[in-house]
Amino acid sequence: MTVSQGSDRCAPALQQPDWPDPDRLGAAVARLESLPPLVFAGECDQLRERLAAVARGEAFLLQGGDCAETFAGTTAESVRGKLRTLLQMAVVLTYAASVPVVKVGRMAGQFAKPRSAATEIRGGVELPVYRGDAVNGLEFTAAARNPDPGRLLDAYHCSAVTLNLCRAFAGGGYADLRQVHAWNQDFVARSPAGQRYERLAGEIDRAIAFMHACGADPDEFHAVELYSSHEALLLDYERPLTRIDSRTGLDYDVSAHLLWIGERTRAIDGAHIEFARQIRNPIAVKLGPRTTPAEVLALIDALDPHREPGRLTLITRMGADRVRDLLPPLVEKSAADGAQVAWVCDPMHGNTFETPGGQKTRRFDDVLAEVAGFFEVHRALGTHPGGIHIEFTGDDVTECVGGGQNVAESDLPQRYETACDPRLNRGQSLDLAFLVAGMYRQHGVNEAPDVS
Ligand code: PEP
Ligand code: CO
Repeated sequence: MTVSQGSDRCAPALQQPDWPDPDRLGAAVARLESLPPLVFAGECDQLRERLAAVARGEAFLLQGGDCAETFAGTTAESVRGKLRTLLQMAVVLTYAASVPVVKVGRMAGQFAKPRSAATEIRGGVELPVYRGDAVNGLEFTAAARNPDPGRLLDAYHCSAVTLNLCRAFAGGGYADLRQVHAWNQDFVARSPAGQRYERLAGEIDRAIAFMHACGADPDEFHAVELYSSHEALLLDYERPLTRIDSRTGLDYDVSAHLLWIGERTRAIDGAHIEFARQIRNPIAVKLGPRTTPAEVLALIDALDPHREPGRLTLITRMGADRVRDLLPPLVEKSAADGAQVAWVCDPMHGNTFETPGGQKTRRFDDVLAEVAGFFEVHRALGTHPGGIHIEFTGDDVTECVGGGQNVAESDLPQRYETACDPRLNRGQSLDLAFLVAGMYRQHGVNEAPDVS
């Protein structure tokens, strides 16, 4: 049975908005059904091949972007900033860890959020919780918080605009490796991470000049392969954007290259897993600290029955202090089962806490410690630490504490701008890339130049 036949509609769907107006919802869904694909099935297949290399231990996944994209944040400046940070991180990882990096944005569709409660109370007033710009507005007013199906179309258009920019940047010269210094321009003097990056960029420059002098100028130096991803949460968005591919006759969700199912909606008998089963895109699933090996095996059976490398990525988010205990049984049992999944570390969602001032934050050191634990576990088991999944922005926000610039809890109010979870700023993201590159090298996967 395919999505078009609707087997996923029989299963319970968690975390869906209470749309107040069925007619308007119907009209929005019908319009989405008529709109062109945002990505193409062939591109999804290509990403699946790249992720197969990750699963085999031959490449590293860098996946990241906002916790929640916003319509207001869909500007050239903001998209370019995120892309620039992603490219800088990828260059650091590629060069310092000598590993091909598969670059996937949490971008161009990350407009819906799962929440722990359906409503929020402030000053005695109870309103529907903010579920992402694709559903309602962040402002705490009845009008903004009322779910509006018209927003599904706005999410589609903002995704299209973002993808258009990403495609232009990726292929139009901005991502050319000879721009490694330009990406860093306004950043060098202000930050230790920027200075460290500048030194690495200098080495890359010399390497490129050397290759050029030898007569080599590969296409890969002039453009990057960039993919989009978001949480497949709103089935009223994902279903109408699921289309039959004319080449293969199979269903693809053309809203993004990779879709992931969140920790809160990954129930094996739920609508989200049933939906994901039926699409041919590469799929990821988030696994939190309560995940049992039996659940993982059931997810592998449901989503990757043929044990096809690249089809399934498992993103673990256990928390810095628990990853060493909780991850090994999941990896061991999956390996024993013959699974060929890519294992990726989300060091953000298991390490969130609230400051006395009421701000959600994360410590850079906890983020790092979870990645370190993830690497240790995989080293001990002889499996591949396949990548990181992070929340970051290209701006100098103050949402996570610590890092090279040592953001303090008292600094958080200065630039706390996220619509949902706290993100690493540009300097913290680069710091993380250098440290992860070091861990990857130590893991013994590759010999790489010393850039410390
Ligand atoms: C997220 O990635 O923003 C998220 C909600 O993650 P998780 O499903 O792991 O909680
Ligand atoms: Co988040």
